[in-house]
Amino acid sequence: MSNFEDKAREAMANPRNVGEMEDADSVGTAGSADCGDMLRMWLKFTEKDGKKVIDRASFQSFGCQTAIAVASMATELLKGKSVEDARKLSPDDLTGDLGPLPPMKIHCGQLVEGALHNALGENREQQDEATTPTLAQSISSQQQGNIKIVPLEGDQE
Ligand code: FES
Repeated sequence: MSNFEDKAREAMANPRNVGEMEDADSVGTAGSADCGDMLRMWLKFTEKDGKKVIDRASFQSFGCQTAIAVASMATELLKGKSVEDARKLSPDDLTGDLGPLPPMKIHCGQLVEGALHNALGENREQQDEATTPTLAQSISSQQQGNIKIVPLEGDQE
């Protein structure tokens, strides 16, 4: 049993920061056409030393257990990171203690990275919950490709 699998199992048994964040400042969604999995991440920002930093992060995911394990790790290690620093994190960074992902699981980490980047690019200060499409709606708007950023329909005027 590889180290990664042990750690991933542990993270999956008790995932952190699962669920929609009611008072989030931003939300991002990514989907993988390879496996059909979707992941959504919510971010809440605060200010520290004049910099915008991530106060907390949460996520919701259907399907892949590895993506859940990575998102659990990632949402923990994003706390306190500046937006700039968070943008620079690679999928390998986001897996934290899980260690490098096995080759066939690399896209699971990219899914988490995709949702994070989407959330970082959508820094609306006041997210209107009513305009946020459900995960199911986002899945239905998913297109072909590897990792796809799914725009939020609430952006449209
Ligand atoms: Fe596709 Fe993990 S198997 S995200």
